[in-house]
Amino acid sequence: MKLISLAFFFLFCIAVRAQNFMVYDLSCEHKTNPMGIVELQPRLSWKIKSSERDMLQSAYQLRLASDDKFSKKNMVWESGKTSSDESVLVSYKGPALQTAKRYYWQVKVWNGKNKESAWSRPAFFETGLIGLNDWKAQWIEPVQDTTRHIPALMVRKEFSLQKKIASARLYVTSHGFYEFYINGQRVGDYLLTPGWTSYQKRLQYQVYDITGLLNQGKNAAGAMLGDGWYRGSLGWVVNWGIWGKKLGLLGQVHIRYTDGTEELLITDNTWKGTQEGPIVANGIYDGEQYDATKEIPNWNKIGFDDASWKSVQVATYDNSNLIAMETVPVRKIKELTPVKIFRTPKGTLVADMGQNMVGWVRLKVKGNAGQTITVRHAEVLDKFGEFYTKNLRGASASLHYTLKGGETETYEPRFTFMGFRYVALDSFPGELSPSSITGIVVHSDMPVNGTFACSDSLVNQLQHNIEWGQRGNFLDVPTDCPQRDERLGWTGDAQAFCRTAAFNMDVSAFFTKWLKDLAADQYPDGQVPFVIPDVLKNNSGTSAGWGDVSTIAPWTMYQVYGDKKILETQYPSMKAYVEYIRKKAGDSSIWKGGSVFGDWLYYKPRMESHTEPDGYTNPDMIATAFYAYSAKLLSQAAAVLNKTEDEKSYQGVFEKVKEAFNKNYVTSEGRIFSDSQTGYVLALMFDLLPQAMQPKATAYLTEDIKRRRNHLSTGFLGTPYLCHVLSQHGQTPVAYDLLLQQSFPSWLYPVKMGATTIWERWDGQKTDSTFQDAGMNSFNHYAYGAIGDWMYRVVAGIEIGKPGYKHILIQPQPDKRISFAKASYESSYGTIASGWEIKDNNFVFSVTVPANTTATVQLPNTETEKVKESGKSLQAVFKDVKQVGKNVQIELGSGTYIFEYSLSFTEKNLLP
Ligand code: BGC
Repeated sequence: MKLISLAFFFLFCIAVRAQNFMVYDLSCEHKTNPMGIVELQPRLSWKIKSSERDMLQSAYQLRLASDDKFSKKNMVWESGKTSSDESVLVSYKGPALQTAKRYYWQVKVWNGKNKESAWSRPAFFETGLIGLNDWKAQWIEPVQDTTRHIPALMVRKEFSLQKKIASARLYVTSHGFYEFYINGQRVGDYLLTPGWTSYQKRLQYQVYDITGLLNQGKNAAGAMLGDGWYRGSLGWVVNWGIWGKKLGLLGQVHIRYTDGTEELLITDNTWKGTQEGPIVANGIYDGEQYDATKEIPNWNKIGFDDASWKSVQVATYDNSNLIAMETVPVRKIKELTPVKIFRTPKGTLVADMGQNMVGWVRLKVKGNAGQTITVRHAEVLDKFGEFYTKNLRGASASLHYTLKGGETETYEPRFTFMGFRYVALDSFPGELSPSSITGIVVHSDMPVNGTFACSDSLVNQLQHNIEWGQRGNFLDVPTDCPQRDERLGWTGDAQAFCRTAAFNMDVSAFFTKWLKDLAADQYPDGQVPFVIPDVLKNNSGTSAGWGDVSTIAPWTMYQVYGDKKILETQYPSMKAYVEYIRKKAGDSSIWKGGSVFGDWLYYKPRMESHTEPDGYTNPDMIATAFYAYSAKLLSQAAAVLNKTEDEKSYQGVFEKVKEAFNKNYVTSEGRIFSDSQTGYVLALMFDLLPQAMQPKATAYLTEDIKRRRNHLSTGFLGTPYLCHVLSQHGQTPVAYDLLLQQSFPSWLYPVKMGATTIWERWDGQKTDSTFQDAGMNSFNHYAYGAIGDWMYRVVAGIEIGKPGYKHILIQPQPDKRISFAKASYESSYGTIASGWEIKDNNFVFSVTVPANTTATVQLPNTETEKVKESGKSLQAVFKDVKQVGKNVQIELGSGTYIFEYSLSFTEKNLLP
């Protein structure tokens, strides 16, 4: 396998060299070869690889056809040579696209010297069911008990196909989870479908290519239905069947025969169903109960006798909520083998997966029919080494598997997931070996985009923990935690983490979908519910820093992906939120009562310490600061969308709130009420202070950090911006003090305690190994992982110059306590890389800028004459070099560059 990819890589390099540049990695609406596109003008993107520096696209040509040979007769659209440097999210402008059809497309580009590339390899997208009338299927509901949690349901149907099949597609969705089968084989590898949305308003359907699964002649289709988010229990209050109490399925198969004719098969009253299957109980929080003795062999194959199954009922729903799948599917991403199997002091048999992970286990077991194994899940062991599940609160997160007996049995649950590192097995027959238990890591299949590494192994473990926090909590919606009876789309957590998330993985499609659910669930008065989808309903409302995800996340996505459409789509929601606050704040411009959660989980000293102040920040000050920030982002979004009046008006709102903020919360000496780190951080980050006051506020902030012996005291709202504010105000060494701090409260304290994910609290586990309050103590909560974006943007120095990284700023701020740092980021244009190393006071700094972008690179603490690029003087290589303060600034085009110079450190071991 490796050899093959190596061979491809060499061929690719040869191709690039032969033509100097080539087009690759084509995508449509942020996805590779997507099925189910319903946009009328889908947007196409491509990347360019060039063996020469300074590659800029001067023109492109697109063509789109109904076959991948692009024959004249099947050509749908040719753009002609179009002068443009756009290569990301370029709109299709051809004739109207047909429903349920595959289109192939390719592109070629010209460089600045009008030299032409070869055509790219073809890519495709396939349209979904564009019109509501394209849905012919009927909702089917097997006879079921709607008064309680029920076993998973099964439905089936046999049918005959008389002719040779050219292609076949399945369009399917459900109330509850579904797994679809054709002739005994599982369709596709998507999990927990149809995904989690605000179901009454938006219900996704999936599209599958099932050509290879069907036979000419007899066929059988079947599906299993589980409670899922739709019908299961959600939220910590007793709350089930939020969207409905009946499970159902809607599916249709489109078949094209080789003779050109077509056939449509639909779910209807000819299907049959049963409630008597092996999945006796299933739930997101509680796990699964599977009785293998109740398995129904061959139920999804032809020839099965379903005489005892009951005919399904047909139901009518208003299908206007049906939408094609917008996000990437949830899949099995990795498998983990236990690193240790042991018995606790009290004798519990435990497997340690070595990593706090989310998904489930696959068991291999041999035993007697009727015997039941219980599998429990935990994130941590207590100080005595015992299995600890109290912090899961009401979630039993267990599997109960009843053996059928005989040969070795393999079992994996389907309609649940767990957050765990340790697995306890009760009544496991025989010896438990590592091969009997496998951890299946499950999450939204977002391409991994970013890497960060440096010379400090604890910081590297922190980066690992951030990444795994994301793996565990980006499961169709951005959740707070994956283990206890919560696992909800908490808005504040997503707000804090979205920029970091976008560095690690491609979250464009993921947030596109979730933000639409946010807009769908937003209250008529503009309030953004605490969680999206809104399962808390009447127990919800807006809290500052939580509701602001409605402005912050779309703005972030626009910055990162250059995607204007996401701003356009979210704009009414952004505006409604700011208008809601505006009404609440009224003429005072102070948002009183707007912060329900404050600076959530800010540092509180332990009982024994009476000398240290806590990190408390006045909630109205927080609310007013976020009000100003959201108004500013709204004004900026309006500017991008050419809404000039709104731009002016919300800039005006910002100015007014800023004035009120200063009047109410800032002293003439620049002290901010309530003198907390978060207070200074928000004021500085959101540009709320007059210029002259900024150095003073920065000084109070750094004094507070010093007084706390280089410790932070921020919560969910201050933490993401803390190091950025320090760096923006000339205090990067203090930011490094915080990053490298190992004692509580700090990012590295959990790392030192053995964490493999980010903890909800700074001291989830205390130094004496006891735990924080079990009522709220998750060990997989990504919010504090928001430091990740400072590591990419400041330590490695990869920063956005123009939206979508069309222009890149590469401006690392090194510190000698770290001898090297390197990061790469796969942008929409290609790979951006920045890496530096300090060796005997020699600074080696390498930079990669993708084709069709430009960059401003800042070489820290040096002068032009002292620097060599790949052995040559800067003037010999670059046209645009200048000294900016203590740094050298160079404007450059695409390519890879290696700068080298000797670096002097003034103060102790820090850069000036
Ligand atoms: C969640 C948080 C969330 C918070 C609101 C918690 O229960 O786990 O992450 O943001 O409530 O304060």
